[in-house]
Amino acid sequence: MSDNKHRVSRRQFLNYTLTGVGGFMAAGMLMPMVRFALDPVLKGEAGGEMVAVAQVKDITTEPKRFDFKVKVKDAWYESEEPRSAWVYKDDKGEIVALSPVCKHLGCTVNWNGDKEHPNQFFCPCHYGRYEKDGTNVPGTPPIHPLDRYELKVKDGTLYLGKAKPRGEA
Ligand code: FES
Repeated sequence: MSDNKHRVSRRQFLNYTLTGVGGFMAAGMLMPMVRFALDPVLKGEAGGEMVAVAQVKDITTEPKRFDFKVKVKDAWYESEEPRSAWVYKDDKGEIVALSPVCKHLGCTVNWNGDKEHPNQFFCPCHYGRYEKDGTNVPGTPPIHPLDRYELKVKDGTLYLGKAKPRGEA
């Protein structure tokens, strides 16, 4: 008789099963929505990450190339990718950090790479040229200025963030 008290009726069994399956399915539908809603917030934090690149005392008025690495997350895979920046102090003493990626077809630009055009960035691939501030020289292949890195200085160290495009010259 007491055995009957602990037995699960067919109705109860169906209730438990349907509730469990329904809850599982609801969670499966809600998780992508929650993730979609939170993703920009999470990405914003990751995107705001800045990397220590140089000591301010090593930065002069002459553009100097600094190499560094950034963490790149692709879904669940995280890796480190190399980056470079041309860094110098302008006439006002402000630090400028330019991307070395040519805005024509993506080759790497060098400072003073062309003896005939000193004090400019030079792209050897198709003879693209840029002024010291990264502005593209009209009449050469690039039609946009070099990207500028977001930067901050803390405790004598220069940190760089993302390289951002500027308007057309
Ligand atoms: S890739 Fe630089 S000029 Fe063409």
